Amino acid sequence: MSKDKPAPVELRFELNRKDIVIECEPQQTLSEVLRNQLNLTGTKISCEVQVCGACTVLVDGLPVSSCTYLAYEAHGHTVTTIEGLENTDRTLHPIQQCFIDEFAFQCGFCTPGMILSAKALLDDNPNPTDDEIIHHMDGNLCRCTGYISIVKAIRKAVEVLKEARG
Ligand code: FES
Ligand code: FES
Repeated sequence: MSKDKPAPVELRFELNRKDIVIECEPQQTLSEVLRNQLNLTGTKISCEVQVCGACTVLVDGLPVSSCTYLAYEAHGHTVTTIEGLENTDRTLHPIQQCFIDEFAFQCGFCTPGMILSAKALLDDNPNPTDDEIIHHMDGNLCRCTGYISIVKAIRKAVEVLKEARG
C-alpha cells in the first residue's frame, strides 16, 4: 500500500461573504483549515469528537461541528465563522452585543460556538420559548457560566432583533 500523502484537493467556498479558493488535504477538518490555513482562530477546538460545540460554524446557515466536518465537504457552500458575524459597518451583531450586555461568558472559549448556534436558532425561529432555546443550545457546553446568562442573552437578542425588524 502506498504511504504517499493523498493529493491535495481544491476547495472553493464562500467564507464570511468572500469567495475563496484554497487547497487542502482530503482528511483535513474544516476547523483545521479555518484555524491553521486561514488564520480564523475564533473557531475554537476542544473535545474534537463533536460533543462540546466549541467548534461550531454555520454551513449554509446551519450549525455544524467543524472539528469533525471535513473541509472538502464545504466545497460550493457558504461558511460563516464568528469573524464573519459582525455587521458590514464593523459593529457587532446584536447576538454578540447581547452576550456582552448579559455577561454571558467568562473564559469565552465556548462563546463563538454559542453565538453561532444562537444565530442559527433565531434565523429559523425568531421568537423561541425558553425551552426551545435550551433545547437548541444543548449541543453547546459551557464550563463557566451556569447557562442562565446565556439564555438571558439569547432572550435579549430576540427582543433587539424584533425591534430592528420593526
Ligand atoms: S471541538 Fe468540536 S464539538 Fe467539541
Ligand atoms: S465561558 Fe468558559 S466555557 Fe463558556
